[in-house]
Amino acid sequence: MSTATANRAETEAQVEKILTDGLKDYWHAICPSHFVKDTPVSLRRLGRKLVLWRDADNKVHCLEDHCPHRGAPLSFGIPLGNKIACGYHGVEVSCDGTVVSVPGNPGCKLEGSRPTRAFHIQESAGAIFMYNSSENVDEPPPLVLPEQLTSGEYSAFLCYTEWRGGYRYVIDNVMDPMHGTYLHKQSHSMSVGARSAEFQLRDTDTGFIFEKAGQRDVNFDWSEWADTGLIWLRLEIPYPKTGGPGGNFGIIGCYTPISPDITAVFHWRVRKVEGWQRDAWRFLYKNRLEARHWTVLEQDRVVLEQMESDANQREHLYQHDVGVTRARRQLRKLATDQLNRGVL
Ligand code: FES
Ligand SMILES: [Fe+2]
Repeated sequence: MSTATANRAETEAQVEKILTDGLKDYWHAICPSHFVKDTPVSLRRLGRKLVLWRDADNKVHCLEDHCPHRGAPLSFGIPLGNKIACGYHGVEVSCDGTVVSVPGNPGCKLEGSRPTRAFHIQESAGAIFMYNSSENVDEPPPLVLPEQLTSGEYSAFLCYTEWRGGYRYVIDNVMDPMHGTYLHKQSHSMSVGARSAEFQLRDTDTGFIFEKAGQRDVNFDWSEWADTGLIWLRLEIPYPKTGGPGGNFGIIGCYTPISPDITAVFHWRVRKVEGWQRDAWRFLYKNRLEARHWTVLEQDRVVLEQMESDANQREHLYQHDVGVTRARRQLRKLATDQLNRGVL
């Protein structure tokens, strides 16, 4: 093998590793809010093992779940506000990763050092978001969410699940609106519209929209890729009359690797509804719509969980897959940029 070929193969393997773990120096949704209580919880996400806990002010803290002394999981320890005491020998680590006390050997070199990886957390829209910094930072960039999750004009329900399979297959699925017409053809909201379509790409300030040419607000007609320092996807499907008053049914999606073969799947089901319409939708959602939406999502899960992990190595794509291709290219570019910054 020539040196150039070997270098290319190594770069390729590094980019793949970055993508498998999840992008560094990006925000990621890591779990629903209710996963984290005042007792520490250990979670695997983004190629890391993390410990999270809440302090008395309900603020969530997050460290690598690894004691700097001898590596016991900090999640076995005792939370003390914004620090945690390891359960093995009592070493105390503050939420910025600094060892603040070594009770067995006061004054030793470990005290005052900052050996533990610490991660900034923000809680919003019923979920916990983590800034996956490549090194400890004092200030993360702002978490920028879509208006559907921040504006009072919308109402949202977080629907969280975990699927077998890599997160990139879940992204592919969302960037492929045409599967709605076939996989979900029996559903309450996707049984109408043309069964073949021409698609087009349109750039936005934060990414791009992949949309059917000449069909809007009929079926699952478009998907959006957005990068605001958090990668999120968006789509809308019109509600039938039985969906009650209000705008289209919207979905905001974030997909985070738990491991190479398990994905944390976040879907916020959103609708533009205010006042009594908001109450009507929230009531209808809980009583009738939620079960139907879950049925549709199950159809996605069943297909995706049965895809072989290397299915994307043997594909024959056509015009409907341009959204998938563009999203993949975008992710690769971000991974390559990360590699070029020297961050693995
Ligand atoms: S391993 Fe944590 S204090 Fe020793
Ligand atoms: Fe689907």
